[in-house]
This record gives sequence, structure tokens and C-alpha cells, in this order.
Amino acid sequence: MKKVGIIIGGRTVEHEVSIITGLQIYDNIDRTKYQPYVIYIDKKGKWNIGDSLGDINTYKNKSFDGITEVIPWQNFDKKNTLTLHPNPDLKQGLFAKKREKLEVEVVIPAVHGTSVEDGALQGILESCEVPYCFTGVKASALGMDKVSMKKIFHAENLPMVDHIWFYRSQYRKDQEQYLEKAESIGYPLIVKPANLGSSVGISKATNREELMESIEVALSYDKKILVEQCIENLREINCAVIGYEDDVEASLCEEPIGWEEFLKYEDKYMSGKKGKGSGEDKRIIPADIPDEVSQRIRELAKKAFMAIDASGTSRVDFLYDNKNIYVNEINTIPGSISFYLWEPSGLPFKELITRLIEIAETRHNDEAENIVSYDIDLLNNMAKGAKN
Ligand SMILES: Nc1ncnc2c1ncn2[C@@H]1O[C@H](COP(=O)(O)OP(=O)(O)O)[C@@H](O)[C@H]1O
Ligand SMILES: [Mg+2]
Repeated sequence: MKKVGIIIGGRTVEHEVSIITGLQIYDNIDRTKYQPYVIYIDKKGKWNIGDSLGDINTYKNKSFDGITEVIPWQNFDKKNTLTLHPNPDLKQGLFAKKREKLEVEVVIPAVHGTSVEDGALQGILESCEVPYCFTGVKASALGMDKVSMKKIFHAENLPMVDHIWFYRSQYRKDQEQYLEKAESIGYPLIVKPANLGSSVGISKATNREELMESIEVALSYDKKILVEQCIENLREINCAVIGYEDDVEASLCEEPIGWEEFLKYEDKYMSGKKGKGSGEDKRIIPADIPDEVSQRIRELAKKAFMAIDASGTSRVDFLYDNKNIYVNEINTIPGSISFYLWEPSGLPFKELITRLIEIAETRHNDEAENIVSYDIDLLNNMAKGAKN
């Protein structure tokens, strides 16, 4: 039975959402093939293991007694394994039970947001040489930075709203220049920090005064910001993609909607399409859009996924005004890993997880084929004083 580490939490504003995503995976993983272990990164950034971490009540009640603080280890004697070693700096009491280390053979980082979805955590896993699900370091970083993401999408001719971006330092030096540039796009405008999620720091501006306010808000969250054309009569349509390199598939499309609209919709189409979700999180699957629009969105989603060299599954979010389609962003570790989009697309949650693990292993094996060092003694062979 393969040991799978499911990493959750992290030093990010999306900490709690990640606990939900991770425990959904823990509950749905195929236990005839895999033995899952939750690895919890707390809000300070400390890594922990322990049986109680698979239970949501542990987090609700903050009852963390009995868990073990660990450090991720690169174990050179055991290839392709991540070792979680009890922190040696923590003294154990005389009668305390010896804390065991844990070795896992594949990792599912079920995490969202900065420091865990942006390539930083992926860098640790890469150095430990363990196969891990979702995107690698580069695609994770590109998926987090909305400005760099747009540059790559632009190179692939993906349709996007008009936008400009600048650094805080540039704005502080020449405010008027950037305000004019932004205004040349035309109001209303949307101002966003380049590197956050969950709509934090994002606001709409309809005149100069609001624009200056919005820029200050966004600049307080990030030193790099984006000002873009605001789409009116907006419908948001999302589509997930699964695969690796150019072997990719798109899911059905969803339209996330507010409560009121959801109830109206349910009244109207009671026997038709299904609305899903809880709380604010309501969605229509498949989205009620013309077939050709849904086809185009699915094609664009696959292009966006391949553009950043994503792997595993990502969700690509679109802006649609019943006329034009624009790619808004890609989420490289989507909430709930978008299982609700895959189930009606014919891929049950359990099989989705298995597929993600298999893709992680394929990517890992592919990368293991690369030459990473030469067996030559360059320093001793180098002629004295030679420069090259
Ligand atoms: N150009 C735009 N026009 C209109 N609404 C937008 C635009 N960009 C974003 N929004 C709204 O703001 C929300 C958050 O923006 P998004 O770019 O998705 O950032 P986040 O990373 O925080 O999810 C979107 O879901 C959408 O409702
Ligand atoms: Mg978004």
C-alpha cells in the first residue's frame, strides 16, 4: 500500500479552506491503493503529523494534543520518499512515548494561497525528490502572479481584458502618469494586487477619486498591482482541466452565482440542471450558456493550462458578458480540487485523486530521466589560471 502525505494549512489567508480541501481528499482517497496521512502546516508555518489530524473536530476544537512537530527531510538513502522527522530540538519528557518518523511516497499539497500554492512549498518537495500532485515550481509561481500569468497568456493569444500594471515604487514617483494610463482604458476599472486570492484587496473604480483609493488599497497588499477594464453585466464561468503536458481534458463549465439568483434558478429549472454547494457557494453545472460558448471556453481553458505548463488539475476562470469571453485567471490548486466539476464530467472524486497521483508519478519519473550532474572532476582538471 502506497503511503500518501496530504499537506494542508500553511501560512496563508486561505488556511481554513485548505483544511476542508485536504480532509475531502483524505475521506475520498482509494484506500485499497493508498494509505493517507495528513501533514498539517500550522499558521506559524510548523509542520505536524498525527492520527487526529484527519478529523475536522481537531481543528474546530483546536485540540492538537498528541500531534508531533516534524521537519521535512531529504532522505538520500531512500529515493523518492519524503521523510517527516520529529523536530530534534524538541526535548521529549522522560516517560513520553518515542515520537515516530513518517515516510511518504507521494504528496498531495491540498493548499491554497501564498507560501504554499505559489511554488515555495513545491520547491521544498522538489528538493526532497518526492513525487507531488498539481503543478511544479514554475507553473505554481505563474499561477499566483496575475501580471506574469497575463504575459504568458498574451503570448499564447488568449483573450483578456485591457489592463496595465505597475510597481508601488513607480506609482510613488510618477502618480499622474499611471493614473492617466489607467484612465485611457476607460472607466469602470478594477484594481487588483498581483499576488493575492479570494478577492482580497480588489475593488472597482468609476472615477479618478475612486481609482486613487482603489490603488492605495491594492498597494497596501502588494508592491505590484494590476488595473483592468471592468466587465459589466458580468457572468463568471469556470472550467477545470486535467492532464499533463499536451495530454489534457476539460471538464464541464460551471457558473458560480449568488443566493438570490440561485433560488430563482432553482424555481425555474427545478427538474433540469442541478445547483450545488452550500452557503455563498452556489453554482450551476453545466453553466447555462450556448454550446458554442462552452466549447470555446473549454478550448481556451486547455490552452491556458498548457501555457503555464500546469499539471494535475487546475481551474481556469473566465469573464463573460453574453458576448465576449475573457480568460481571467488560472487556479493551480483549486478549492475542493474542483471535484464537483469532474463528477458530472464522468470522473468520480476517488478516481480523480488516483489520476492526480498517477500524473504526479509520471511527471516525477520524466524529470528523473534528466541528467543533473556530470561525473568529471572539473576543478582538478582545470588549467591553473584558466578562465574558461
Ligand atoms: N475585469 C473584471 N471585471 C469585472 N469583475 C471582475 C474583473 N476581474 C475580477 N472581477 C471580479 O472580482 C473577483 C475576484 O477577481 P479575481 O481576478 O478572480 O481574483 P482572486 O484571485 O481574488 O480570485 C472575480 O471573481 C470577479 O467577480
Ligand atoms: Mg478568482
